[in-house]
Amino acid sequence: MDRNLALEFVRVTEAAAIASSYLVGAGDKIAADQAAVTAMRSAFNSIDFDGEVVIGEGEMDEAPMLYIGEKVGSGKGLKVDIACDPLEGTTITAKGGPEAIAVIAAGEKGTLLKAPDMYMDKIAVGPGARGAIDITKSATWNLREVAKALKKDVQDMMVMILDRDRHAEIIKEVRAAGARITLISDGDVSSVVATSYGDAGIDMMLGIGGAPEGVIAAAALQCLGGDMQGKLIFEDDEQKARAVRMGITDTNKIYELNDLAKGNVMFVATGVTRGSLLQGVRLIGGGAHTHSIVMRAETGTVRTIHARHQFDRKPRYGW
Ligand code: FBP
Repeated sequence: MDRNLALEFVRVTEAAAIASSYLVGAGDKIAADQAAVTAMRSAFNSIDFDGEVVIGEGEMDEAPMLYIGEKVGSGKGLKVDIACDPLEGTTITAKGGPEAIAVIAAGEKGTLLKAPDMYMDKIAVGPGARGAIDITKSATWNLREVAKALKKDVQDMMVMILDRDRHAEIIKEVRAAGARITLISDGDVSSVVATSYGDAGIDMMLGIGGAPEGVIAAAALQCLGGDMQGKLIFEDDEQKARAVRMGITDTNKIYELNDLAKGNVMFVATGVTRGSLLQGVRLIGGGAHTHSIVMRAETGTVRTIHARHQFDRKPRYGW
């Protein structure tokens, strides 16, 4: 993968983050998402590369832009698969809460799982616990093994879980095992990344979230050296049939990190609202400050980029 492309893609997540930041707290998650999608698509198309969206806003008939299969970029240059979430945390943004980001994972053709837009059960840990997880075993078993790998007690562990009714049992089990929990309202890409980067002190992410978000987060862990497993969760037979149509051959498959994202993938994100990983967009009147992170699996380099944007001197993408 061309390393310059990673830096070009920062402009794309910056554009999506700035566009949606105008709708922070506006109570309209659809409008915030739409602003991010429009900006991300225009910014993509200003870059020389031959991209195809493998994870985006949905299938062609349900998403007018950034749909699965849509071509992005000028069409000239490297062929790249794109998994994007122009606004990860639409509800967060609508409420002005923390941890909303604009995010892209990218890789050579075939490196990112074409995950259908449905749920995935996930477990993720940082580099110190690589190889110590098994999603087919209980939360208690995983806590014990990961604690052992990290040379700490289960009581010292901090587990991040989406605050959803479906997680009542798992939350009960983690508490009974003695570990601590951070419940989050939304945004499990950031929580997976937090196991492997930053100082949020998160040892493990557990539970069911979006499958597309799982693939995007896996690209980050591939860069950072963390570990992750996932299993698709089908709510009904129609979902299962859709997954099969999208190329999933084994609907019971346990996806290892390399099945989700492999090779020289890259991960790029810009904060929309404040978070443990990134600061949010700060509008400064005629401009904005943004905070982004760029990682590449090939070298493991992680860059954080603070940018000051002057809107009278650069293209605007809908804001
Ligand atoms: P949106 O940005 O689409 O609102 O997704 C936010 C999110 O919290 C993801 O991070 C997570 O994977 C998924 O939603 C969980 O889905 P649900 O809200 O249905 O539990």
